[in-house]
Amino acid sequence: MPLQEKDILVEAFTDMAPDYERKVNSELNLFWGWSYQGFVKELIERTPIFKTDTILDVATGTGVISHHLAREGRSQNHIHALDITYPMLKRARDRFENSNIGDEGELICASAMDMPYNEGTFSLVICGLATHHMEVEKFVFESHRILTSDGRLSIIDVGGSLNWNIPGVKFLIRIVAYLYFLITENHSRAWAESSAISNVRAKEEWQALLLRSGFKELKIKKLSSKNWFIPSPLLIQAVKI
Ligand SMILES: C[S@@+](CC[C@H](N)C(=O)[O-])C[C@H]1O[C@@H](n2cnc3c(N)ncnc32)[C@H](O)[C@@H]1O
Repeated sequence: MPLQEKDILVEAFTDMAPDYERKVNSELNLFWGWSYQGFVKELIERTPIFKTDTILDVATGTGVISHHLAREGRSQNHIHALDITYPMLKRARDRFENSNIGDEGELICASAMDMPYNEGTFSLVICGLATHHMEVEKFVFESHRILTSDGRLSIIDVGGSLNWNIPGVKFLIRIVAYLYFLITENHSRAWAESSAISNVRAKEEWQALLLRSGFKELKIKKLSSKNWFIPSPLLIQAVKI
C-alpha cells in the first residue's frame, strides 16, 4: 500500500480509537442487525481452539478478540496480536492491563502485509473485521507463511457479491460509502471505507483464493443480514496444507 494511503487509513483508525466499540456496534447493527459483541462471539465460538494453540490476532484493534481469548484461557501460550494503528493498540494494552491479564498479550505495531514473524510460528491466525482494509492476497500469503502445517486461519468480515464485478458497480458503491462515512464521520474514515470496497470478496472469490494459496478444508459461511441489499458478512475458515 503506498505510504499516503497507509497514512490515511491509520489516521481514520486513530480518530476512531477512543470510541471504537460504540461506533462499530452501531454500524454492525445498522448494516446487518448484528451487535459487535455478538459478532465477536460468533467468531470465537465457531473457531476450534485448543489449549496448546499459539494464536495470532491480526489487526486486533482495541484487542477485544484477544482479550476474550485470554480471559477464557483458550490458550496456555501468550496471545499475540498486531495492528498497524498505534492508538488502537494502546487501547488493547489498557484493556489487558485493566483486567489483570496484562502478561497474556504480546502486542506489536506492524502491518499484516509483512508480518514480523518466522515461518510456522502460529497454529491459529484469527482476524476480525479487517481483511477489507488489506491487500487480501498478501494477507492470505502472509498468514500461510507464518502458520504451522495444519495451522488454521479463521476470519470474520464483510462479504461481497459477484455482481459487484459488473463494470461500474464497485465504483458506485465506493461513492455511496464515501458519502455515507463523510456525513457520519470524517474524510479519512470515508476514504478508508470507500477504498476498502475493492478489497471485499464474495464467498466464491475467497474459496478460489484460499485454494490457490495452499489452504484446504475450507468452510465459508454466510452470516445473517437484516438488509437484503447488503451482502452477508462471512465467517471463513481454512487449514494450511
Ligand atoms: C474495524 S477494525 C477491527 C479491529 C478488531 N479486529 C475488531 O474485531 O474489533 C480494523 C483494524 O484493522 C487495522 N488494520 C488495517 N489495515 C491493517 C494492516 N495492513 N495491518 C495491520 N492492521 C491493519 C486497523 O488499524 C484497525 O485497527
